[in-house]
Amino acid sequence: MKELLTRFSELETPFYWYDLQLLDDTLAALNKANTEDYHVHYALKANNNPKILERIRKAGLGIDCVSGGEVKHALEQGFDPSHIVLAGVGKTDQEIAYAIDQNIFSFNVESIEELVVINEIAQSKGKRPNISIRINPAIDAGTHHKITTGTKENKFGISDEDLFASVDLIKSLKNIHFIGVHYHIGSQITDLTRFKNLAIRINEIQQGLIDKGIELPHLNVGGGLGIDYLNPDGNAIPDFEHYFKVFRDNLKLLEGQELHFELGRSIVGQCGSLITKVLYVKKSGQTNFLIVDAGMTDLMRPALYDAQHLAQNISSDSETQVSYDVVGPVCESSDVFNKGLVLPESKRGDLIAIRSAGAYGETMKNEYNLRPLAQGYYSE
Ligand code: LLP
Repeated sequence: MKELLTRFSELETPFYWYDLQLLDDTLAALNKANTEDYHVHYALKANNNPKILERIRKAGLGIDCVSGGEVKHALEQGFDPSHIVLAGVGKTDQEIAYAIDQNIFSFNVESIEELVVINEIAQSKGKRPNISIRINPAIDAGTHHKITTGTKENKFGISDEDLFASVDLIKSLKNIHFIGVHYHIGSQITDLTRFKNLAIRINEIQQGLIDKGIELPHLNVGGGLGIDYLNPDGNAIPDFEHYFKVFRDNLKLLEGQELHFELGRSIVGQCGSLITKVLYVKKSGQTNFLIVDAGMTDLMRPALYDAQHLAQNISSDSETQVSYDVVGPVCESSDVFNKGLVLPESKRGDLIAIRSAGAYGETMKNEYNLRPLAQGYYSE
């Protein structure tokens, strides 16, 4: 830690710090657990840092994108177009045309209208891209409501009532190639029975398709596996073995059918921390505020989803423990990282590590209040 503190003292705070060794270990654990050679597409939205993408590409993963910009970025980082999938409820005509031109592996289509538009654009180019239908399976992921995607109130996917209408329509659309079905029920899912429920529902839907004479070569179950935000050192690497086992044990794949995953957070979440400096220690009534130089502009998750990220004082070795509200400098009452967090007594200039910030940290940073953007650094 001493060595790291010396390095940290040379960098302008706040900044993101990535432990690339942990990323490599996580990727190795993922690949080891993937005994069936399932196709794992990393969800680029979680972290698009080139150094991180390089490791992910070298580990053999494909990419899950949600915009033309992400497809372009993935290609620039050396990912093979045949390993790229593109989802999103509102793909623009330009994004669709671009992805068709790049010959990506597949579009995950989220509405009947989108099927028609992709077909039209493909026809104008004399092409026939692969498409999967994203089905909203009406399965509750049991996670925060703002990161739940698979229930009827969510905007994502085609509802199962519209499934057969879509299938009938697809038969008449000559410029799309129907290869599979896609699901994604939500994010930060720590209760594996939610994935079991998904698998059981997929079997029912698949049987419905078989009854109609439709057997598809690909099935994509999305991502969503959660991480342990409260114990990042104790549980640095998610339990990929049990995660894959749930699908292996419960999903009835057709002969030769390929299974795809789209994992984001579970791959990169624990390898990143946001390092910030204490600006002021302020007492107000009974509350001790630790005012740090990182705010919700650097890491939005606590303000957006009431997310808990463990904050640790990495400078102080005081034996006195004090309860703090760790807050940022942004002019919003929601700019709070932790309430009532017990830390060693802290003072101006101490460095605080806000842990488990590798996923949906840097990618969601912004310049509200005209604050500069935090940079990312690495330990190899
Ligand atoms: N596939 C699709 C279609 C998705 O929409 C997502 C995430 C993933 C895969 C990857 O999910 P993961 O394995 O990372 O859970 N900003 C929020 C999370 C939003 C997730 C959006 N979709 C957060 O910070 O918690």
